[in-house]
Amino acid sequence: MPEAEKAGMVHGVFTRVASKYDIMNDLMSGGVHRLWKDAMMDWLAPRPGQKLLDVAGGTGDVAFRFLNRAPAATATVLDMTESMLIEGRKRAEAEKMAELLEWVVGDAMALPFPDNTFDVYTISFGIRNVVRIQDALKEAFRVLRPGGRLMVLEFSRIPNDLLQKVYDLYSFNVIPVMGQVVAGDRDSYQYLVESIRKFPDQETFAGMIRAAGFEQVSYRNLTMGVAALHSGWKL
Ligand SMILES: C[S@@+](CC[C@H](N)C(=O)[O-])C[C@H]1O[C@@H](n2cnc3c(N)ncnc32)[C@H](O)[C@@H]1O
Repeated sequence: MPEAEKAGMVHGVFTRVASKYDIMNDLMSGGVHRLWKDAMMDWLAPRPGQKLLDVAGGTGDVAFRFLNRAPAATATVLDMTESMLIEGRKRAEAEKMAELLEWVVGDAMALPFPDNTFDVYTISFGIRNVVRIQDALKEAFRVLRPGGRLMVLEFSRIPNDLLQKVYDLYSFNVIPVMGQVVAGDRDSYQYLVESIRKFPDQETFAGMIRAAGFEQVSYRNLTMGVAALHSGWKL
């Protein structure tokens, strides 16, 4: 698919699902995405006063968790789909956290920030939607300050063929139907499951992170590899 077409399609998908995004996440994963995001925070160990950039941050799940764990931290949530950020801002107001957050419409491949700005860069279930993943990783490296850390949460590969087949059956058959019933949008959820299958496996993705300049790159599987966390440092 041509690059501009993919970007337009991803934007269309998230504009359509924005108002149902949080509830669909809970339904599709049986709430497990919350445990994965908590595991991300456990490994990240946010510290007081840190400046977080959460890219493809959508409705703010990662930023809220970060701020809840780190007093006096601040977070910038960047996403190319404004309707996702609007949902996030409503949540921030409801949770009385609005003054700690900034919401920016922008592209992961061309971040509107100077070099060496943030202590932490996170991207959760976002990078597989980015058209040129390597460009996004290079931008992450650029905007992190020396000593800063990247952490990526993304669907990954189950290193067991039988379990992978069971998971494929679930995702290809159940998720598009849930999308149809709950969000009235089968095609968007069909895209989401297909994009999961196209994303590189754990080792390949770790290599891409190293190629962007990060050091001490490592990963942890979550739920047997259904998802994985990748960590890297700008040293
Ligand atoms: C599945 S949602 C993830 C939202 C949130 N991070 C979470 O974990 O719940 C993916 C998000 O990636 C955003 N996105 C996709 N490509 C992007 C890009 N190139 N730059 C910025 N955001 C992008 C979409 O707009 C969407 O909000």
